[in-house]
Amino acid sequence: MSNRPEPALEQARESDRRDPLRSFRNQFWIPNKADGGEQLYFCGNSLGLQPRGVAAAVAEELGAWRELGVEGHFKGARPWLAYNDLLRGPMAELVGAKPLNVVIMNALTVNLHLMMVSFYRPRGQRRQILIEQQSFPSDRQAVESQIRMHGLDPQECLVEIAPSGDSRIIEEAAIEDYLAKNGERVALVLWSGVQYASGQFFDLKRIADAAHNAGAMCGFDLAHAVGNVPLELDASGVDFAVWCTYKYLNSGMGAVAACYVNHEQSARADLTRLHGWWGNDPRSRFEMRPEFTPASGADAWQLSNPPILAMAPIRVSLELFQQAGMARLRAKSVEMTAYLERLIRSELADTIEIITPAEPQRRGCQLSLRVRAGRAAGRNLFERLEAAGSIPDWREPDVIRVAPVPFYNRFEDCWQFVRQVRKLTGKA
Ligand SMILES: Cc1ncc(COP(=O)(O)O)c(C=O)c1O
Repeated sequence: MSNRPEPALEQARESDRRDPLRSFRNQFWIPNKADGGEQLYFCGNSLGLQPRGVAAAVAEELGAWRELGVEGHFKGARPWLAYNDLLRGPMAELVGAKPLNVVIMNALTVNLHLMMVSFYRPRGQRRQILIEQQSFPSDRQAVESQIRMHGLDPQECLVEIAPSGDSRIIEEAAIEDYLAKNGERVALVLWSGVQYASGQFFDLKRIADAAHNAGAMCGFDLAHAVGNVPLELDASGVDFAVWCTYKYLNSGMGAVAACYVNHEQSARADLTRLHGWWGNDPRSRFEMRPEFTPASGADAWQLSNPPILAMAPIRVSLELFQQAGMARLRAKSVEMTAYLERLIRSELADTIEIITPAEPQRRGCQLSLRVRAGRAAGRNLFERLEAAGSIPDWREPDVIRVAPVPFYNRFEDCWQFVRQVRKLTGKA
């Protein structure tokens, strides 16, 4: 038997050698399989891998606390009082916003609630919230509870737009159509940037325009979009957006989330907003006045002083984004996702269906797969993949999500993954 690798594997390795971002893989810890050797980690859509610089960054802040105590707020390499200012610039760049309109705080669902307090203000017959069918359960549950908080009935006020036909794809035209016919009843359109189960990347400007043309507010959940696809929040005109940082932003489990508030909205004096001392104008925050004087921009929504130890990983991660550049990451992502798609279509078409849109501009790096034989076969394949050290993830009812992340995945990983699926389904 020859030791020479197969031509297709050699091709994948050649693509890796040509990859201008290949050295970034060394900046991350790649988990090992139970029996040694690196995992085929395809789960950056759920929990991004740990950048190697994180431990030192957390240790630095622990050191500052140890050595400076309370004075660490004002002294040291990175005074804690200004920590958000270190992060908001690079974070704003990732979402296409001005730094003033972005703040890092809380967790995603908390921020979603804070945003809905301000931007879901049902009046008269305008009281519906429009979301996608099969939206992330936390979002749906948050929406439902906000509706109830206003004394309204979710049966009437929570409206879900369904995918077309048998597909899992929701056409933007379906949202426009609903709004054209029922717009005067809609108070808020809350939409995902990239749909968590199908991997569909929506035309966000089109959705914000449709919402605004109907007189409704618009907000985005960018959990699966940020760090994955290019975003232009300011240009989209959206009123607010929320996202987490533990997926493509590689900032660790339960990491601190972020929030965008459109400049025009944040400048309004008539907004309802939940207040806490950290939302005050920093120039008067420590005068300890009883009344609230809002900070400008998104900062006014802050409630509490920021958890620095939990924010240090975000700083490291954003530095990597600055070095790699979102445009280059996206270019590699488009190429590598198309490569994985080609392999699946050519080698597994009779076993596996891809439910993610085929057009690169309608998806990020995640491909959502369905095993044609049904849920039980899909679940079984997923479990055997995991046992073999391939780490996609599973989303009920029947989806295996595979995300080749441009920071640390290789073309060879995609090849090995497909080979493993072929083996486990008796094809190789
Ligand atoms: C689309 C979406 N929304 C909301 C959440 C909930 O996030 P958190 O637990 O950080 O509030 C997640 C978590 O994965 C998500 O993917």
